[in-house]
Order: sequence, then C-alpha cells, then structure tokens
Amino acid sequence: MKKDIAFFDELYSKSKIDPWGADWRGTIGVWHDFCLNCISESLNKSFTSNYPITILDIGCGSGILTEMIYSLLSKKYNIKDYLAVDISSKAISRAKSLHPMSKVNYQTTSEDLSTIQENSFQLILGFGFLPYLTSDKRLQLFSTLKSIKSSDGLILLSSNVRVNNEDSNYPLADLIAKELSVFFSIMNIYKLFLSQYSEGIEAKLLKLNSVLPLSRLLQQKYLPKKFNQYYSKKATDIFPDKRLHLYELI
Ligand SMILES: C[S@@+](CC[C@H](N)C(=O)[O-])C[C@H]1O[C@@H](n2cnc3c(N)ncnc32)[C@H](O)[C@@H]1O
Repeated sequence: MKKDIAFFDELYSKSKIDPWGADWRGTIGVWHDFCLNCISESLNKSFTSNYPITILDIGCGSGILTEMIYSLLSKKYNIKDYLAVDISSKAISRAKSLHPMSKVNYQTTSEDLSTIQENSFQLILGFGFLPYLTSDKRLQLFSTLKSIKSSDGLILLSSNVRVNNEDSNYPLADLIAKELSVFFSIMNIYKLFLSQYSEGIEAKLLKLNSVLPLSRLLQQKYLPKKFNQYYSKKATDIFPDKRLHLYELI
C-alpha cells in the first residue's frame, strides 16, 4: 500500500483535525491506550526514572498521540529533547496549530531522515506508517534507525499486519519480523487485535451523526473495547481481521 507525500498532504488538507479520527474515534482511542501501555512497560524495563532521554517520534501526524506520549513520559523521565517528525508538511502545520504550547519540537522530514544525526536518540518511536512503505523502503528506514539510535537506545515501532491472505494492504507479520531482525534484536512483540466490526459500526454511526447527536457515543472507547475483547477470542489464523503488532527493538 505505497503512499506518497502528496497522498498524506491531501488527507490533512481535507480533514479539520485528524484524517484518521484520532480526535473522535473510539477505536483509535483503544489503539492509543495500547501504545501508551506498551511504551510504559517497555521503558520501565530499559530506563530508570529521571533518566535523561532524547526522543524521536517518526510519523507523528497531527500530534495527538505524540502529546499523550510526552505527557506520560515527562512525569517520570527527564526529556532532554522530543523531536516529532512527519513527511507531510501539512501534518506538521496541523500539529503545531493544534498544540501551540507544546514542548515537542515538530518538524517536517524527508523520507530518508537525512537531517537527523547519527547516535542521537535513546528512544525512537514510529507508529502507524510502516504499511505505507514498500519492503525496500522499510529496509532503508531500519538501516537509518540503527545508525541514529544511541548505543543504549530502544526502538518501538508498530505496524498493521496480516498473518495469511487477509487484507493485502497490510504486510505479512513474518515479513516485517524478518526485515526487522536484519538490523535489530526483537525483544518483544506486543499484539493488539482491532476488530473490523467495531470500526464498521463506528462508520455506520458516523453516517447517522448528522441526524442524531452521536458524537459523544462515537468518542467512547467502551464499545470498541468490548467488541475487541469479544472478537479477539475468535481471532485465529483463518479468521480475517486486523492485527496490530508493536515491536520492541534494541
Ligand atoms: C496513521 S498516521 C499515524 C499518526 C500517529 N503516529 C498515530 O499512531 O496515531 C501516519 C503518519 O505517518 C506519516 N508518514 C508516512 N510515511 C512516513 C515516513 N516515511 N516518514 C515519516 N512519516 C511518515 C504520514 O504523513 C502520517 O501523518
């Protein structure tokens, strides 16, 4: 599912806040909670509290998840620098206008991250964009990440994955793991099942939103969480649905 900068710029131009609905969608809220829990768990193992860390957040989009991460980590760690980058300049403008008081440094980047210095980041985050890259581009990116990670550094990357002939827009889980293991040791894979049923119901409710005041209901994480719990029990290799893997790498 290769997508270029123009594709992302257009999505941000067309949306008022976030093209993926991070400001109102319960299912995205479930994903963001999962991310925050994984980051917490992973950093607890790797860094002592008050440890001074430099953070690079790639594909930060409108910064909604980024701000939550900053708020979570700044309570425990001494954040020396938090650089959040995106290939879409429209995404970065959106992030800056949505979070004018932010301590995060939002910057547009090139796809090859060529402006970023080697050995400079203790924590590298990259959530929600790997399926948009071809396998070759992912390998180039992983090679760059290896050089910009400091020697005591940790990398957390996520990808939607498929395990068989499910949605071919998503890379195979085995392929992503193989590509990552060329450059990194995979310490852990956190897995989240995101039910298409809850996303489908969200989409139907959205259509009704103009006639019924459903905005509050749409923002609730309760229903997507319940659906996910129910359907994740049925998620097997032959049950096509959406899976999210979050990789902890050193
Ligand atoms: C689905 S959004 C994810 C936003 C946020 N990280 C989250 O998980 O909620 C994906 C973002 O990645 C950006 N992106 C895509 N390819 C990228 C690349 N090669 N380098 C940096 N950003 C990229 C897109 O412009 C988009 O803003």
